[in-house]
Amino acid sequence: MPCTVKSPVLLITVNVIEVMKAVKLSARLRAISEFIDDGASVADIGTDHGLLPVYLAQTGLAGRIFASDISAASLDAAYRSASEYNVTDLITFIAAPGLDGISPAEVDTIIIAGLGGETILSMLTNASWTKDNGIKLILQPQSKVDLLCRFLYDHGYSILETKSVIDRSKKYTIIHAMGGYLENEKR
Ligand SMILES: C[S@@+](CC[C@H](N)C(=O)[O-])C[C@H]1O[C@@H](n2cnc3c(N)ncnc32)[C@H](O)[C@@H]1O
Repeated sequence: MPCTVKSPVLLITVNVIEVMKAVKLSARLRAISEFIDDGASVADIGTDHGLLPVYLAQTGLAGRIFASDISAASLDAAYRSASEYNVTDLITFIAAPGLDGISPAEVDTIIIAGLGGETILSMLTNASWTKDNGIKLILQPQSKVDLLCRFLYDHGYSILETKSVIDRSKKYTIIHAMGGYLENEKR
Protein backbone atom coordinates (compact mmCIF):
# COMPACT_ATOMS: atom_id res chain seq x y z
CA MET A 1 0.00 0.00 0.00
CA PRO A 2 1.44 3.46 -0.86
CA CYS A 3 2.68 5.45 2.12
CA THR A 4 0.32 8.39 2.72
CA VAL A 5 2.40 10.13 5.37
CA LYS A 6 3.25 13.63 4.16
CA SER A 7 6.61 14.05 5.94
CA PRO A 8 9.49 13.82 3.38
CA VAL A 9 11.85 12.73 6.17
CA LEU A 10 9.72 9.68 6.97
CA LEU A 11 9.34 8.82 3.28
CA ILE A 12 13.11 8.83 2.76
CA THR A 13 13.57 6.55 5.78
CA VAL A 14 11.06 4.04 4.44
CA ASN A 15 12.81 3.95 1.04
CA VAL A 16 16.24 3.40 2.60
CA ILE A 17 14.89 0.43 4.55
CA GLU A 18 13.53 -1.04 1.30
CA VAL A 19 16.86 -0.67 -0.53
CA MET A 20 18.78 -2.31 2.33
CA LYS A 21 16.65 -5.50 2.46
CA ALA A 22 19.21 -8.30 2.64
CA VAL A 23 18.70 -11.84 1.42
CA LYS A 24 19.03 -14.46 4.16
CA LEU A 25 20.87 -17.65 3.29
CA SER A 26 20.33 -21.07 4.84
CA ALA A 27 23.24 -22.48 6.89
CA ARG A 28 24.09 -24.73 3.90
CA LEU A 29 24.27 -21.90 1.37
CA ARG A 30 26.08 -19.66 3.83
CA ALA A 31 28.75 -22.37 4.31
CA ILE A 32 29.12 -22.64 0.52
CA SER A 33 29.49 -18.85 0.20
CA GLU A 34 32.39 -18.93 2.67
CA PHE A 35 34.54 -20.74 0.09
CA ILE A 36 34.23 -17.91 -2.44
CA ASP A 37 37.19 -15.57 -2.79
CA ASP A 38 36.76 -11.81 -2.91
CA GLY A 39 36.29 -10.60 -6.48
CA ALA A 40 35.80 -14.11 -7.92
CA SER A 41 33.92 -14.66 -11.18
CA VAL A 42 31.34 -17.17 -10.09
CA ALA A 43 28.96 -19.49 -11.96
CA ASP A 44 26.18 -21.05 -9.90
CA ILE A 45 25.04 -24.11 -11.86
CA GLY A 46 21.53 -25.38 -11.05
CA THR A 47 20.83 -22.09 -9.34
CA ASP A 48 17.05 -22.64 -8.93
CA HIS A 49 15.82 -19.86 -6.58
CA GLY A 50 19.05 -17.93 -7.24
CA LEU A 51 19.55 -16.99 -3.60
CA LEU A 52 23.30 -17.52 -3.66
CA PRO A 53 23.83 -15.25 -6.71
CA VAL A 54 21.59 -12.64 -5.08
CA TYR A 55 23.67 -12.85 -1.89
CA LEU A 56 26.91 -12.48 -3.90
CA ALA A 57 25.48 -9.46 -5.71
CA GLN A 58 24.25 -7.81 -2.52
CA THR A 59 27.46 -8.33 -0.56
CA GLY A 60 29.73 -7.41 -3.48
CA LEU A 61 31.75 -10.55 -2.74
CA ALA A 62 31.93 -11.71 -6.38
CA GLY A 63 33.23 -9.65 -9.30
CA ARG A 64 31.00 -11.37 -11.86
CA ILE A 65 28.01 -13.62 -11.26
CA PHE A 66 26.40 -16.14 -13.60
CA ALA A 67 23.22 -17.96 -12.57
CA SER A 68 22.55 -20.99 -14.77
CA ASP A 69 19.82 -23.61 -14.80
CA ILE A 70 18.41 -26.16 -17.21
CA SER A 71 14.85 -25.28 -16.22
CA ALA A 72 13.12 -22.15 -17.48
CA ALA A 73 10.87 -22.17 -14.41
CA SER A 74 13.89 -22.27 -12.08
CA LEU A 75 15.59 -19.47 -13.99
CA ASP A 76 12.39 -17.42 -13.72
CA ALA A 77 12.45 -17.99 -9.98
CA ALA A 78 16.08 -16.83 -9.87
CA TYR A 79 15.20 -13.71 -11.86
CA ARG A 80 12.29 -12.99 -9.50
CA SER A 81 14.60 -13.31 -6.47
CA ALA A 82 17.07 -10.91 -8.07
CA SER A 83 14.24 -8.46 -8.86
CA GLU A 84 12.99 -8.62 -5.31
CA TYR A 85 16.42 -7.57 -4.07
CA ASN A 86 17.14 -5.10 -6.90
CA VAL A 87 20.21 -6.90 -8.24
CA THR A 88 19.12 -8.16 -11.68
CA ASP A 89 21.75 -5.91 -13.36
CA LEU A 90 24.55 -7.63 -11.47
CA ILE A 91 23.70 -11.20 -12.51
CA THR A 92 23.86 -12.89 -15.93
CA PHE A 93 21.06 -15.46 -16.26
CA ILE A 94 21.71 -18.49 -18.45
CA ALA A 95 19.30 -21.22 -19.52
CA ALA A 96 21.41 -24.30 -20.30
CA PRO A 97 22.19 -27.81 -19.11
CA GLY A 98 25.21 -28.18 -16.85
CA LEU A 99 28.08 -25.88 -17.77
CA ASP A 100 27.07 -25.61 -21.43
CA GLY A 101 26.24 -21.90 -21.21
CA ILE A 102 29.41 -20.95 -19.34
CA SER A 103 32.41 -19.51 -21.13
CA PRO A 104 35.61 -20.83 -19.50
CA ALA A 105 37.34 -17.47 -20.00
CA GLU A 106 34.72 -15.71 -17.91
CA VAL A 107 34.69 -17.72 -14.69
CA ASP A 108 37.21 -18.85 -12.11
CA THR A 109 34.79 -20.37 -9.60
CA ILE A 110 32.05 -22.91 -10.19
CA ILE A 111 29.40 -23.81 -7.67
CA ILE A 112 27.22 -26.89 -8.14
CA ALA A 113 25.05 -27.46 -5.10
CA GLY A 114 21.92 -29.37 -4.23
CA LEU A 115 22.25 -31.91 -7.05
CA GLY A 116 23.10 -35.62 -6.93
CA GLY A 117 26.76 -36.64 -7.01
CA GLU A 118 26.31 -38.50 -10.31
CA THR A 119 24.70 -35.47 -11.96
CA ILE A 120 27.57 -33.27 -10.77
CA LEU A 121 30.20 -35.64 -12.11
CA SER A 122 28.47 -35.90 -15.45
CA MET A 123 28.37 -32.07 -15.67
CA LEU A 124 32.12 -31.96 -15.01
CA THR A 125 32.75 -34.74 -17.53
CA ASN A 126 30.93 -32.71 -20.18
CA ALA A 127 33.02 -29.63 -19.40
CA SER A 128 36.60 -30.92 -19.37
CA TRP A 129 37.95 -27.34 -19.22
CA THR A 130 37.08 -27.47 -15.51
CA LYS A 131 40.26 -29.57 -15.13
CA ASP A 132 42.35 -26.53 -15.99
CA ASN A 133 44.62 -25.46 -13.22
CA GLY A 134 43.16 -22.78 -11.08
CA ILE A 135 39.45 -23.36 -11.65
CA LYS A 136 37.87 -23.48 -8.22
CA LEU A 137 35.04 -25.95 -7.70
CA ILE A 138 32.65 -25.73 -4.78
CA LEU A 139 30.49 -28.83 -4.90
CA GLN A 140 27.70 -29.87 -2.56
CA PRO A 141 26.29 -33.24 -3.64
CA GLN A 142 23.00 -34.39 -2.17
CA SER A 143 24.07 -38.02 -2.64
CA LYS A 144 27.03 -40.22 -3.67
CA VAL A 145 29.62 -38.01 -1.98
CA ASP A 146 32.25 -40.79 -2.03
CA LEU A 147 31.63 -41.51 -5.71
CA LEU A 148 32.09 -37.84 -6.58
CA CYS A 149 35.31 -37.61 -4.51
CA ARG A 150 36.66 -40.72 -6.24
CA PHE A 151 35.76 -39.26 -9.64
CA LEU A 152 37.56 -36.00 -8.83
CA TYR A 153 40.65 -37.86 -7.64
CA ASP A 154 40.76 -40.09 -10.73
CA HIS A 155 39.98 -37.47 -13.37
CA GLY A 156 42.40 -34.61 -12.97
CA TYR A 157 41.08 -32.65 -10.01
CA SER A 158 42.43 -32.10 -6.52
CA ILE A 159 40.31 -32.03 -3.39
CA LEU A 160 41.58 -29.28 -1.13
CA GLU A 161 39.03 -29.53 1.66
CA THR A 162 35.72 -31.06 2.60
CA LYS A 163 33.44 -29.50 5.16
CA SER A 164 30.27 -30.74 6.82
CA VAL A 165 27.42 -28.45 7.67
CA ILE A 166 24.20 -29.18 9.52
CA ASP A 167 21.16 -27.38 8.19
CA ARG A 168 17.73 -28.05 9.70
CA SER A 169 19.00 -31.32 11.21
CA LYS A 170 20.39 -32.58 7.91
CA LYS A 171 24.09 -33.04 7.27
CA TYR A 172 25.60 -31.80 4.01
CA THR A 173 29.13 -32.17 2.65
CA ILE A 174 30.80 -29.35 0.77
CA ILE A 175 33.79 -30.26 -1.37
CA HIS A 176 36.32 -27.60 -2.26
CA ALA A 177 38.26 -28.90 -5.24
CA MET A 178 40.28 -27.45 -8.08
CA GLY A 179 41.18 -28.39 -11.60
CA GLY A 180 44.64 -29.95 -11.91
CA TYR A 181 46.85 -31.83 -9.50
CA LEU A 182 48.70 -30.33 -6.60
CA GLU A 183 52.46 -29.98 -6.96
CA ASN A 184 54.38 -33.16 -6.02
CA GLU A 185 51.20 -35.20 -6.01
CA LYS A 186 51.63 -38.58 -7.68
CA ARG A 187 48.66 -40.45 -9.13
C1 LIG B 1 17.51 -28.72 -5.69
S1 LIG B 1 17.80 -27.40 -6.78
C2 LIG B 1 19.30 -26.74 -6.09
C3 LIG B 1 19.24 -25.24 -5.99
C4 LIG B 1 20.50 -24.58 -5.42
N1 LIG B 1 21.68 -24.87 -6.21
C5 LIG B 1 20.72 -24.96 -3.99
O1 LIG B 1 21.71 -25.63 -3.69
O2 LIG B 1 19.90 -24.58 -3.15
C6 LIG B 1 18.38 -28.18 -8.25
C7 LIG B 1 18.35 -27.29 -9.49
O3 LIG B 1 19.20 -27.88 -10.46
C8 LIG B 1 18.60 -27.76 -11.71
N2 LIG B 1 19.16 -28.80 -12.59
C9 LIG B 1 18.90 -30.12 -12.59
N3 LIG B 1 19.62 -30.75 -13.53
C10 LIG B 1 20.35 -29.80 -14.16
C11 LIG B 1 21.27 -29.81 -15.24
N4 LIG B 1 21.60 -30.93 -15.87
N5 LIG B 1 21.82 -28.63 -15.63
C12 LIG B 1 21.51 -27.48 -14.99
N6 LIG B 1 20.63 -27.40 -13.97
C13 LIG B 1 20.07 -28.55 -13.56
C14 LIG B 1 17.11 -27.91 -11.46
O4 LIG B 1 16.36 -27.33 -12.50
C15 LIG B 1 16.99 -27.16 -10.13
O5 LIG B 1 16.66 -25.83 -10.34
